[in-house]
Amino acid sequence: MSKIIDGKQVSADVKARIAKETAELKTKGIEVGLAVVIVGEDPASQVYVRNKEKACEAVGFNSYKYALPEQTTESELLELVDKLNNDPKVNGILVQLPLPKHLNDKVIIDNIKYEKDVDAFHPVNVGKIMIGDYSFLPCTPAGVMELIHSTGVEVAGKQCVVIGRSNIVGKPMAMLLLHESGTVTICHSKTKNLKEICADADILVAAVGRAKMVTADYIKPGAVVIDVGMNRDENGKLCGDVDFEDCKDKAGYITPVPGGVGPMTIAMLMQNTLTAAKQQQCIE
Ligand code: GUN
Repeated sequence: MSKIIDGKQVSADVKARIAKETAELKTKGIEVGLAVVIVGEDPASQVYVRNKEKACEAVGFNSYKYALPEQTTESELLELVDKLNNDPKVNGILVQLPLPKHLNDKVIIDNIKYEKDVDAFHPVNVGKIMIGDYSFLPCTPAGVMELIHSTGVEVAGKQCVVIGRSNIVGKPMAMLLLHESGTVTICHSKTKNLKEICADADILVAAVGRAKMVTADYIKPGAVVIDVGMNRDENGKLCGDVDFEDCKDKAGYITPVPGGVGPMTIAMLMQNTLTAAKQQQCIE
């Protein structure tokens, strides 16, 4: 029987530490602010944005929400980004993705001041992650690292397999594991012998977006299994990329969905926002 990694608990611990530090900054007259921009009516994005606002409130940050209509033009959105870039009350800027089709994510992200890019999506921050000189951690991969650390399992020297090569999760995930001296393999849709490669992993991170794709035969006995997936199963129930029921007795540690990686992403966003505020105030 494996140990289930409690993402809600680890996330609560991270947020408690952030709240304490935020309260200490407040006694010195320093406040922390996050601006969240949402364009259009996408229901999933609205839920994510609400959760980010709630998290800000819980840790003592000021949150500034900008909800823009679907038909907002690129120049209108860039004008808002420019205003936020220059607003000293705003330490972090997050533009919720995906944007409506007529807007180019890359153009918008490239125009966020990289010092305020708390998603770590700006090319400067992506480059910093590559060379291990990062102020901002990519939120989901950083959350995964916290969960791995919570198990007490050392990454150094371990076989680490990441399934998925997205810019937001797979690639930065591999970098963070590499920075901790893991031996990292990135698998993707063209990978041959996926099952065999995964079955050799001491640490397996699944970020493919295919419901319950990873079954027990992909798992090395005792492995740490982290599930980044967020899918619906055949009954419309939320599930991960890992077939939890099938794998839970074989893995050493495993994350559930929901309640695993999900709560960590927002905690790491709060961490990046606090880091941004401290850097802008020249603390550290
Ligand atoms: N949409 C889904 N996840 C994210 C995220 O982490 N950041 C942003 N900006 N948009 C998202």
